[in-house]
Amino acid sequence: MFSLIKPFIFKIDPEAAHNLAIKSLKYNFLPEDVFKVDNEIILETKIFNTKIKNPIGLAAGFDKSAEVYNSLFKFGFGLIEVGTVTPKGQYGNPKPRVFRLERDKGLINRLGFNNDGLEKVSKRLKNNSPSGFLGINIGPNKDSKNRIEDYLKCIKEIYPFADYITINISSPNTPGLRDFHNESTLQNLLKNITEFTKKNNIQKPLTLKVSPDIAENEIGYTIELIKKFKIKGVIISNTTDKNRENLTGIHKNEIGGLSGEPLSKISNNLIKKFYREIKGEIPIIGVGGVSSGLTAYEKLKSGANLLQLYTGMIYEGPGIVKKIKAELIDILKKEKIKNVSEIVGTGS
Ligand SMILES: Cc1cc2nc3c(=O)[nH]c(=O)nc-3n(C[C@H](O)[C@H](O)[C@H](O)COP(=O)(O)O)c2cc1C
Repeated sequence: MFSLIKPFIFKIDPEAAHNLAIKSLKYNFLPEDVFKVDNEIILETKIFNTKIKNPIGLAAGFDKSAEVYNSLFKFGFGLIEVGTVTPKGQYGNPKPRVFRLERDKGLINRLGFNNDGLEKVSKRLKNNSPSGFLGINIGPNKDSKNRIEDYLKCIKEIYPFADYITINISSPNTPGLRDFHNESTLQNLLKNITEFTKKNNIQKPLTLKVSPDIAENEIGYTIELIKKFKIKGVIISNTTDKNRENLTGIHKNEIGGLSGEPLSKISNNLIKKFYREIKGEIPIIGVGGVSSGLTAYEKLKSGANLLQLYTGMIYEGPGIVKKIKAELIDILKKEKIKNVSEIVGTGS
């Protein structure tokens, strides 16, 4: 079905196509059965002591303002991350700001945290409880005078609705945000967050979403700080502002974050590096270029406990989750694996 309408969708501006998708998903008309696969039990896994049906998640950025997560759960995702949500609603960068790189199976975006803001988003979450495992990704407003305060405001307001909260320090489209990857800046952010959650008795798993562009020497202290401040998971990775050389699409030099297939190897390599040091102590959510059973398998073997995807769904449509699950189940069966968690890190 998607292959029939794809040529028409791809004639529309990418952001307009996305808005159209959100509008239609608001009707929540999809029958769940369409996206079911057999023998999914082999994919059942655990995160933060909760069982989930499968490790395939939707990455942050698709449902930025938490409008359609329950429709999206029907596609078969084991987890969905909404956001990035900022304290105040904001428009983001001027349009156009999303670019398809069709031949590269990639995308460049410089949206800049466009979202409806904390108040509207928490109202939606309150009135429509999620039918699956839901993460909420938070970040600061572009014009904020105190970015740490912004993270705290978000945590305080949305924690009752989240199964986990992602501290997003890695979007390349909010100037200066990635400075939070510096050792002392990260230490200060995580210290403030820990003190705040302790003081307010907020006990929600927190994850940190990192950039794929961090240097080798930043990995060690990032892991140390994650452990020190009891961050429960690390999401690897956000989009890259590098790796344009081998792209063929005409938009390859647009400013913004690159996602999809051209990010796959970069994120896998970083996952491997984190996994070798973390040794399974802290779950890794692997993101970047997941679009098939094989790419999912490779990411899990690199060390990811769970996966997320976004760009793959643009190219493959809503059937992508079903396709990945069926292909992954096939691979696991051929390898006589009993449960998907057995392969995590075996190729790191
Ligand atoms: C259009 C678009 C918007 C995104 N917005 C966000 C965002 O708001 N917050 C965030 O943490 N990541 C955001 N991302 C990054 C994705 O969550 C993901 O980390 C990245 O796209 C790599 O995965 P993929 O190759 O499967 O797309 C966005 C990605 C895209 C393509």
